[in-house]
Amino acid sequence: MKACIRATAVTVTAFWTAVALAACGAGAEHDSEGGNGPRIGVLLPDATTARWETRDRPLLEKKIKELCDTCTVEHANAKGDVALQQEQMDSMITKGVDAILLVAVDGRSLGPAVAKAQQADIPVIAYDRLSAGPISGYVSFDGKEVGRLQGRALLKAMGDKVPGGQIVMMNGDPSDPNAVAFKEGALSVLDGRVKIGKAYDTLQWRTETAHMNMSGALSALGAESIDGVYAANDGLAAGSISALKANKVDPLPPVTGQDAELAALRRIVAGEQYMTVSKPFGPEAAAGGAMAVAAARGEGLDGVSTGEVRTDDGKTVPAVLLTPVSVTAGNLKETVLKEGLYTVQQICIPQLRTACDRVGLT
Ligand code: BGC
Repeated sequence: MKACIRATAVTVTAFWTAVALAACGAGAEHDSEGGNGPRIGVLLPDATTARWETRDRPLLEKKIKELCDTCTVEHANAKGDVALQQEQMDSMITKGVDAILLVAVDGRSLGPAVAKAQQADIPVIAYDRLSAGPISGYVSFDGKEVGRLQGRALLKAMGDKVPGGQIVMMNGDPSDPNAVAFKEGALSVLDGRVKIGKAYDTLQWRTETAHMNMSGALSALGAESIDGVYAANDGLAAGSISALKANKVDPLPPVTGQDAELAALRRIVAGEQYMTVSKPFGPEAAAGGAMAVAAARGEGLDGVSTGEVRTDDGKTVPAVLLTPVSVTAGNLKETVLKEGLYTVQQICIPQLRTACDRVGLT
């Protein structure tokens, strides 16, 4: 029996923004592990953001093996390259894998590849990022809520600079539908409360691009008139903070983030980053792994979903949508530490000992 009542369908409007990304024509890179049962392709989007290779991949492989010890996992990372990911999809189809878990580099551009997989009877599960095309299931977090959490935390950190203070927005890659949702959620909270001095979209979510854009914002606006930085994830927060520090901005304005990366948690303890959003990867990978195994075995996905999502072609597909959590220095213990995401020892390296004592991490 299903654990949850089927939720009202969530409409995910087609927000795909056309972004021409360069194709480099490199071949697909992949590896696999033993087993004679179903084969599951796991296609990850980039190597820039720590979570994909360090959290999602091992957690997905573990869950898939746990549910199906004869299953084989075929993995490939597109390194932010749409054309490479299309090739990797083709390669999975040619090999005849039984299901594909796809984190699309560009949700719209991957649509035809998803359709091709479906014609070959290979179900595609959209993992974390929605993809165009006939997907069979979807697992993710409520992206607009991520943006609202970031926006609310930024307003709180800006204190008496609200209303009227000025911020810089470092948004993600608009070809990623999540980035569009994060931005929309954040703006729903920030609009009318702060002035947005500069807003940037960051192709391929690159940390170096955020660094460059933050340097540009500092030259254009002046350090003293930047009261806060909305950074859509921890990579963009890292780039923004490194530019602020390179320009000797002191004190640093509050900066948001997302992903609860270890480096971000350390910056939070050190007082360099105000917050991050934790999207517990364990439950996400568990749901993604369960959907992939069910799909690869040719079973329905109703038993492994808790709701539905409406795709851009108007169809509804089984979905699991999880809840994100706001993390600041004040609640590290009750959030990421309690979840077992990291230990105090991992966060509190010797240079952070005093800072860790200050925020009560002992
Ligand atoms: C994910 C974020 C991640 C970003 C960059 C988004 O689709 O939801 O967790 O930081 O992509 O890879």
